[in-house]
Amino acid sequence: MCSRVHATMPTVTEVLTVDALLPDPAAIARAAAILRGGGLVAFPTETVYGLGAHALDRAAIHRIFLAKERPAEDPLIVHVHDIGALRSLTTDVPATASALAARFWPGPLTMVMPRSASVPDEVTAGLDTVAIRIPAHPVAHAIITAASIPVAAPSANLFSRPSPTRAEHVLQDLDGRIDLIVDGGPTTVGVESTVLDLTGSIPTILRPGAVTLEMLRTVLPQVRLDQRGAQEREGGMRSPGLLAKHYSPRAALTLYEGPGPSVTARMAADAAEVIRRGQRVGIVAADEDFFPGVSAEALHLLRIGSERNAEALAANLYNALRTLDASGVDVILARTFLDQPGLTVAIHDRLRRAAAGRIVRVQP
Ligand code: TXA
Ligand code: MG
Repeated sequence: MCSRVHATMPTVTEVLTVDALLPDPAAIARAAAILRGGGLVAFPTETVYGLGAHALDRAAIHRIFLAKERPAEDPLIVHVHDIGALRSLTTDVPATASALAARFWPGPLTMVMPRSASVPDEVTAGLDTVAIRIPAHPVAHAIITAASIPVAAPSANLFSRPSPTRAEHVLQDLDGRIDLIVDGGPTTVGVESTVLDLTGSIPTILRPGAVTLEMLRTVLPQVRLDQRGAQEREGGMRSPGLLAKHYSPRAALTLYEGPGPSVTARMAADAAEVIRRGQRVGIVAADEDFFPGVSAEALHLLRIGSERNAEALAANLYNALRTLDASGVDVILARTFLDQPGLTVAIHDRLRRAAAGRIVRVQP
């Protein structure tokens, strides 16, 4: 066997640009035909761009893992266009799933359910469960409907890189490795779907996302957030993709946690120190942030939205990380926005993973 990196034959990656709301039917038909034929198509969902393949075609699934250099033990989400498709993918649709689907599908919620034998082991990494979602993005919906097959789609990035929120991010990582990118412009949510496990006695959020704990509790009051993420349970990891190092820019990212003004003062001091050492610093900040004592010219400062607008912060986060990487910074400093519940929980989760343990807790 060849090495993992070179195991994919170079392919010419075609890019088709479509309107996000009213995609050209010819482009949709082309994407659907490639998927049905076992090829790889990246397309926008409301969360991030997905890298789709025929979920019941083992060879196609194998190509996803090769293109992304993704470890085989990390299972994929199966995307479908309507709830009827669940019958063939699961052995049992829990009543809780039907209630949640009625409220949150199509949308950024993935539900983990008991899997049927028709789902290949390669999709579920051998688990006895399968993760399923109906995406809300008109382009994703049109492609999956036209293909009329279940579509397995991880985020369309190289393993451990930030998820793509624009077609250009997909090109950066996967050009020459996949057949088609359907460019429907920037995604709106910006962080990956909420992953909710419905197979245990208590419904548990394995990955926080735009469908928040508070929203889920309006339907299922007992839902809880799994704080352990990457911890193992009997028979393997609970959600194997939730590894500590994930969503990472190339530059080392340090996350500062604590109240706003103390955090930005500490970031400014640390940035000044890095600059004195002759390195380049990128900062991911809110519109309101002020970094005392560092000259603005010395910083690659990217503001991603108001600290009171979690939707904007989430939508712009991954693009900021990729933009800072592209500008060649040596280190990235980011702060937490965790002073309210809701989407900030997901933002914080992704920043912690990107920081891979480099976390500075600042006292008030
Ligand atoms: O928003 C999203 O979810 C995007 C778009 C493309 O839909 N997809 C995405 O896929 O983020 P991926 O592969 O990057 O992340 C899937 C997550 C991983 O953390 C994986 O471990 C978890 O879902 N997962 C998949 N199947 C699972 C299962 N059977 N049990 C537990 N976790 C599972
Ligand atoms: Mg991913």
